[in-house]
Amino acid sequence: MTTDALFRIDGLVKRFGGLLATDHVTLAIAPGEVHALIGPNGAGKTTLIHQITGLLKPDAGRLWLAGRDITALADHQRVAAGLSRCFQVTRVFARNTVQDNLVLALQAHAGSSLRFFAPRTREAGLYAQARELAARVGLDQVLSREAGTLPHGAQRTLDVALALAAKPRLLLLDEPMAGMGPEESARMVELIESLRGNDGERCAVLLVEHDMDAVFRLADRVTVLVQGRVLTTGTVDAVRADARVQAVYLGAEDIATEPAP
Ligand SMILES: Nc1ncnc2c1ncn2[C@@H]1O[C@H](COP(=O)(O)OP(=O)(O)OP(=O)(O)O)[C@@H](O)[C@H]1O
Ligand SMILES: [Mg+2]
Repeated sequence: MTTDALFRIDGLVKRFGGLLATDHVTLAIAPGEVHALIGPNGAGKTTLIHQITGLLKPDAGRLWLAGRDITALADHQRVAAGLSRCFQVTRVFARNTVQDNLVLALQAHAGSSLRFFAPRTREAGLYAQARELAARVGLDQVLSREAGTLPHGAQRTLDVALALAAKPRLLLLDEPMAGMGPEESARMVELIESLRGNDGERCAVLLVEHDMDAVFRLADRVTVLVQGRVLTTGTVDAVRADARVQAVYLGAEDIATEPAP
């Protein structure tokens, strides 16, 4: 394992009764990397994400963020340490404007960094940051819209922006394309792509996604999880060419349609 990893999972174990939902999982994410986590239903992806955010406590193993052991930290402490997630169930305040949603999220994470400024200056600073953030994700034309009236894709985009308000070093995205049409998906792919490209605030992404087109387009590396275990981690090309991945992940159908020898 590389020592320059931004985030490391070392020998993580989670049991549910007799079931090993996370079976000694080890993986590393480099700064700015888009790392996809894929695997069939029940492979343990969500269980792993929950242990990373702090929702579930692992039975064994360690989590490291930028060299710091975060295994024992509470979820809000992990956010402060640079870990932010988007929720499958969106946390957008539907009756508030896009701008107010962003300001509230920025305020929640500004904390001590703004305490030296007078309230007026502080507020102006937050609104300026909200506009900047909106521009970064392409929501600057809808700042005064009530968030609940936005199309589904734009609400998911706002959810990503709310996570970015915490200035994360690692962003966890749990099925960001779920329920999206092709156009909205394409825009979300672009947004995730831009996170990697933005050098000033470069952010690594751990992406759980069933949309394989999106995964193959975005991921620098892919980890395939099967029955709680890492089957393999590699580039998109390596993972797609791996016969074991084809067999367990892409399904018996693909194997069955191979011409008989
Ligand atoms: N709280 C729980 N108690 C008991 N078993 C659980 C619990 N949560 C998950 N499991 C089991 O752990 C295994 C992994 O589930 P998990 O939800 O992590 O899979 P997943 O890869 O996210 O699947 P999907 O692609 O369907 O979302 C499954 O066998 C599931 O039934
Ligand atoms: Mg899941």
